Amino acid sequence: MAGTAFPVTLLFADGVSQRIAVPCGGKLIEAAQEAGLNLLTDCSNGQCGTCTAQLVSGSVDLDDYDSAVLTDADRASGTVLPCVCRASGPCAIELPYDSSEAMSEEPAPVVAQVTAVEQVASETVRLEVQLPEAVAFEPGQYVRITPAGADFHRSYSMANVPGTDRLQFFIRLVPGGAFSEWLAGAKPGDAVELSAPHGTFFLRQEDRPRLFVAGGTGVAPFLSMLRAMADQPTAQRTTFLIGARTPGHLFALDELRQLGEKLQGMELQVAVEQDADAGCHAGYATDLIPQLGLDPSTRVYLCGPPPMVEAGRRAAAAAGLPAADVLCERFA
Ligand SMILES: Cc1cc2nc3c(=O)[nH]c(=O)nc-3n(C[C@H](O)[C@H](O)[C@H](O)COP(=O)(O)OP(=O)(O)OC[C@H]3O[C@@H](n4cnc5c(N)ncnc54)[C@H](O)[C@@H]3O)c2cc1C
Ligand code: FES
Repeated sequence: MAGTAFPVTLLFADGVSQRIAVPCGGKLIEAAQEAGLNLLTDCSNGQCGTCTAQLVSGSVDLDDYDSAVLTDADRASGTVLPCVCRASGPCAIELPYDSSEAMSEEPAPVVAQVTAVEQVASETVRLEVQLPEAVAFEPGQYVRITPAGADFHRSYSMANVPGTDRLQFFIRLVPGGAFSEWLAGAKPGDAVELSAPHGTFFLRQEDRPRLFVAGGTGVAPFLSMLRAMADQPTAQRTTFLIGARTPGHLFALDELRQLGEKLQGMELQVAVEQDADAGCHAGYATDLIPQLGLDPSTRVYLCGPPPMVEAGRRAAAAAGLPAADVLCERFA
């Protein structure tokens, strides 16, 4: 098959389709890039799930990936990770975002200045940065942050509302992690580079009940969503389940309760794995899903470590909700 190239059709959420040629055994992402299409990726090696897409016909080979991000059952039902896809025949792949996102040039990164670094809970730091001008994004999206002079970047979800020139992040300190080690020594005045906002895990403007489930610092994008929702409260029902390892790992709870009061229909439940206080569920946040009696029209948002997201997807499926109504962001 040397020299063979297979036609691969990319189907975007806005109905646009693009046909590209991918050499036999060649990487889909690279062929797409050569054709002027920047498919959405983050880790680029099958660890985060950001690129998740659906194979609707034909076949592809996948390089190594994390099975917590793409389970065998999902793989069998056609879910693929384009960042690790290699062409093994003609195929069509459905991507959950508009063609404009893939066709637009990545804007140059902006330089921002750290204005605050504060430990707010066990292993969790609030980082604030000042940008030269206000930035537009959808509540729930993320940026890639590169510390000045570093040769790596990591992705973090904005916790603030869009349209301001100061961004807020909640970041878990991971032992031995490159960004975590930089953050442990970061101080106001330090410079960082920020990419443009990205991501398909953002608040959908629709009139249906919402279930938010967050693990650890997975609360961050929901803070952005809830702060934006509180600016224009509706009677829409929102349930928010938060999971943490211990009570000391919880953060922003007072503000979340205040937001819940503004959003009259919001129900907040907390689960901790160890040392649960009265009023907290002892265990995982996803344990609580079966007891909610979810309306079949509920839109589910899951954000946190891959095993939590997987447990949430299984619980939503067991509650009868279609997989297409479940949005996921994995903090791998
Ligand atoms: C879309 C998206 C949004 C995200 N938003 C957030 C957010 O809002 N808040 C948040 O806290 N996180 C978020 N994350 C996760 C975040 O991007 C990082 O993955 C996380 O902060 C860890 O980065 P790090 O550089 O500190 O660790 P890394 O350097 O990536 O290391 C992770 C782990 O791997 C180990 N490791 C590293 N190198 C090696 C090696 N060579 N050999 C063996 N082990 C190694 C480290 O010890 C550590 O345990 C998000 C992720 C994605 C994909
Ligand atoms: S970009 Fe494909 S799994 Fe992370």
